[in-house]
Amino acid sequence: MLLKSTLLRSGPNSKRKAPRQQRKAGVIDCDLSMGKPFDIELERLTGQPPYSEATRCAGAGQRGTFFLETFGCQMNDHDSEKVAGLLHARGYQQVETPEAASLILYNTCSIREKAAQKVFSRLGEYREKQGEGKVIGVLGCVAQQEGEDIFKRAPWVSLVCGSASYSKLPGMLAQLEAGNQRVTGLDTDTDATFETEVTRRDNPWRAYLTIIEGCDKACSYCVVPFTRGPERSRASDSILREVRQLAELGYSEVQLLGQTVNSYADPTARRMRFSELLLAVAEVRGIRRVRFTTSHPSDFTLDIVEAIEREPKICDHVHLPVQSGSTRVLRAMQRTYSREEYLEKIALMRGASRPIGITTDIIVGFPGETEAEFEETLSLLEEVQYDSMFSFKYSPRPNTPSLSMSDSISEEEKSRRLAVLQDKQREIQAAKNARLVGEQFEVLVSGKSRRENQWSGYTTSHRMINFASQERELLGTYVQVRVTGAGPNSLAGEHAV
Ligand code: 5AD
Ligand code: SF4
Repeated sequence: MLLKSTLLRSGPNSKRKAPRQQRKAGVIDCDLSMGKPFDIELERLTGQPPYSEATRCAGAGQRGTFFLETFGCQMNDHDSEKVAGLLHARGYQQVETPEAASLILYNTCSIREKAAQKVFSRLGEYREKQGEGKVIGVLGCVAQQEGEDIFKRAPWVSLVCGSASYSKLPGMLAQLEAGNQRVTGLDTDTDATFETEVTRRDNPWRAYLTIIEGCDKACSYCVVPFTRGPERSRASDSILREVRQLAELGYSEVQLLGQTVNSYADPTARRMRFSELLLAVAEVRGIRRVRFTTSHPSDFTLDIVEAIEREPKICDHVHLPVQSGSTRVLRAMQRTYSREEYLEKIALMRGASRPIGITTDIIVGFPGETEAEFEETLSLLEEVQYDSMFSFKYSPRPNTPSLSMSDSISEEEKSRRLAVLQDKQREIQAAKNARLVGEQFEVLVSGKSRRENQWSGYTTSHRMINFASQERELLGTYVQVRVTGAGPNSLAGEHAV
């Protein structure tokens, strides 16, 4: 599904406290959660948010203050940006702690049980004080999944709004302001996409843009079709209008988002194919990079590869979750392709005239996965040579078809398989990255270390590079960086002038 910024990770993190990276010059960390750039420092470095949408909203703070914590994937990150935009436009001011806020919102993730539990532990922090007169709201996938039961578990919650109902949020906020104690938005039958007039984007150079919401696939382990509802694609002219606006505001990189982004089906008479949309976005003046995530293998077609070949602005990185290397397990997962069919998609990319970075998601310990089937996943890693991987232990989820299959593999065995898988991928990444030493890449600089002359950024293939430069101000610029060192999770380099 959706890829975040690390090269080898075991799952998404929440955004509450951005961990500070401590690094030594030229040394590359290799723990699983590393590979993060320094862009956690952005807000502090740039002082005022540089996004003019936020500053356009007059009267910020007049209605009160809000704190918004986001869990989960990039779709959630971006939904939170839109929710923050809506609140700004209504006169709320964003604050950094729940203590300072009159409205506390949690945008939740329920993809795995651990993620879903997190929000209840956050809500539990208010049990004693019953909210202290603050308005507390639960948004996103847990809200959709648990619905009004949240009020039973945490009666101090006032707002429950599922991810498929965000278009109703303005009305719900109005009800809260009018003094309503409890408001809910839990429909999934909406065909509206969540578009807002103002979005408060968290990164001043890269903008997320949802082009398709929901999911019509029915992977047997996955809650997304229940929590985000059916697939709805946004009109191509509306997408392109927003991209032009983003370029005018100074964003040079756009990332098109969707649970199955390449299943995009333009609802307008133009009937733009996904590959045509990629090319049209790349043509917008001021846009230098176009990313997209997450692609579904069954809808991944040659024309997408041809668009990447034809247009260098379309980034040479495809996130193509495989989930398992065993056709038997893939069938049980209802993934709609076999190992061989998946490998055909990989072959399309490997045949491209410019190299394409390929990353994936894998689940270990799916019900009934035998040792031999797990080994098929290991052999797939060997065969594909992914540039990075997100890996997860199978977690049974409510409403999903696989819930009725016996979750027979013990936690210990799942952990063992996960560790074996990650060790293998680490070796692959270390070897692949080592081969890049001496090469030069264009990097969009998105982070600055506290240590002097140390910067970080991404190549178009989404490799993270920490590099040295004597320049004073590089944030948001594109520079050439020569690779001087490599670890499994990131590269080190120097500014090539
Ligand atoms: N258990 C474990 N991992 C899951 N994912 C989705 N649902 C589950 C689940 N029930 C993983 C898939 C998906 C990624 C975002 O999360 O690998 O691609
Ligand atoms: Fe979930 Fe499958 Fe849809 Fe991805 S494609 S969101 S894994 S149902």
